[in-house]
Amino acid sequence: MSDSYSPIKVDLEKDKRYAWCTCSHSTNQPFCDGSHRTHNATPSMGFSVEENKEAYLCTCKKTSNPPYCDGTHNA
Ligand code: FES
Repeated sequence: MSDSYSPIKVDLEKDKRYAWCTCSHSTNQPFCDGSHRTHNATPSMGFSVEENKEAYLCTCKKTSNPPYCDGTHNA
């Protein structure tokens, strides 16, 4: 099943607060939409970046470097 996930490319803005979905229930991947509350699942992980950049955010939730994809989805 690991090949059913792939990272999502996003444009991140400097100093903006983001909430990465950790539970997979969000319908707004890779970001949190609050679904963890109704599923009693793990809360989002907040993060921000120090410069505007493009990034590939993990959707399989198994990365060792959250919120970024580290290739684990291919393992
Ligand atoms: S999507 Fe690549 S490690 Fe999770």
